[in-house]
Amino acid sequence: MSIDISGTEGYAERADALIEQWRTISFADQHAPVLAWIPRVPSRIVDIGAGIGTDAAGFAALGHTVLAVEPVDAFRRAARELHPSPRIEWLDDSLPDLTVLLARRDRFDVVMLSAVWMHLDAPQRERAMQCVAALLRDGGVSIMSLRHGPVPDGRRMFDVTADETIRLASAHGLRLVRELHTSSVQPANRANGVTWTRLVFERPADMAY
Ligand SMILES: C[S@@+](CC[C@H](N)C(=O)[O-])C[C@H]1O[C@@H](n2cnc3c(N)ncnc32)[C@H](O)[C@@H]1O
Repeated sequence: MSIDISGTEGYAERADALIEQWRTISFADQHAPVLAWIPRVPSRIVDIGAGIGTDAAGFAALGHTVLAVEPVDAFRRAARELHPSPRIEWLDDSLPDLTVLLARRDRFDVVMLSAVWMHLDAPQRERAMQCVAALLRDGGVSIMSLRHGPVPDGRRMFDVTADETIRLASAHGLRLVRELHTSSVQPANRANGVTWTRLVFERPADMAY
């Protein structure tokens, strides 16, 4: 159901090429800077904008149970074939409101938002942050990455700053525990000057619902 989901522009049309490109990305390389915030004990993780499931599979291999949320049908189909793990459940839903997911009233130890936040405009980011906070259990963490640099043709992306994201998270009771800035792990993107901000937020245990 990717048609008309804002943020997915340019993905379904190029799904075959992107699936091939993304298959070469390693979970461990991509997330090395934030791996310390992934729980050591089996936990419940929701990966939003999960693409072809590289991260979902990485989490599953570490023993976690993963709900992978992705609105582009072609990516969910490819992901199921690439990573047929019983620890991964796939869900067709989308930011900013995550209507299907929130209706389940689940809470998670980790909310992963890798390379998706910059697809949302400012009002959508406000709504989406409220959802992120609602999905985290007390003591849980949200791991986010924000892309900076040239926008690929046909893609919908906005300039999103660390400061704005930290402010939004704080307004929803989430505390920044890590901020770092890295270059892209993909050689072509690195050559084009793509950089990333990585942020980790914690939902404090004493936060009121
Ligand atoms: C750059 S890819 C990142 C995929 C994966 N998270 C990763 O880091 O490899 C961005 C993903 O976000 C998804 N996406 C775009 N807009 C979205 C939205 N409104 N809600 C949820 N996912 C969205 C796209 O379909 C795509 O799979």
